[in-house]
Amino acid sequence: MKILGISGSLRKASYNTHLLEAAREAIGSAATFATFDIGGIPHYHGDQDGEEKPPSVQKLKDDIASADGVVIATPEYNYSLPGVLKNAIDWASRPAFKSVLKDKPIIVLSASMSATGGARAQVHLRDILAGVLAPVFAAPDFLVPTAQNKFDDDGKLTDTPTQEMLQKRMDSYLEWVRRLSS
Ligand SMILES: Cc1cc2nc3c(=O)[nH]c(=O)nc-3n(C[C@H](O)[C@H](O)[C@H](O)COP(=O)(O)O)c2cc1C
Repeated sequence: MKILGISGSLRKASYNTHLLEAAREAIGSAATFATFDIGGIPHYHGDQDGEEKPPSVQKLKDDIASADGVVIATPEYNYSLPGVLKNAIDWASRPAFKSVLKDKPIIVLSASMSATGGARAQVHLRDILAGVLAPVFAAPDFLVPTAQNKFDDDGKLTDTPTQEMLQKRMDSYLEWVRRLSS
């Protein structure tokens, strides 16, 4: 199985990117795990969304198409998801209702420095993914609140309860993806 990870944060020391790395560890040898950096994706531009697309957009679409499932770790910006993540989804979402995101099993994670853990970003993201016909793993929101206390300076997830919860969540997510792809 192939799993693709996408972080909604571009910064190097991003807790969400660190969370994706923790998800990679939790997946272990159960699947291959690659990440896609959305930092190079241009603003959505309908005139560039023809047969030939910007190379980074084409790569995003190809990577999603060839993955069995997608893990998205998103920060919350002003009670929603970051614009860069929405923009990447907009590119990937075309042609409408027939895109690479259609029927792609997705799991949403979030980390935030606040006590709410990105819950509001997840609500918006789940709604957007419903609009592109991508099923989202049905489970209580996976939130990492006060993320600054849960990772060490090297970006490793050190909070044991969060690690254990992530392991269980990724195990059941992979089981779901396996079921859907068989
Ligand atoms: C523009 C902006 C808006 C933010 N708004 C929220 C917010 O609404 N809720 C929240 O929990 N955190 C908010 N934060 C704080 C982020 O949760 C925090 O910066 C987090 O570390 C970002 O994720 P990252 O570490 O993956 O980059 C905001 C940060 C930025 C830069």
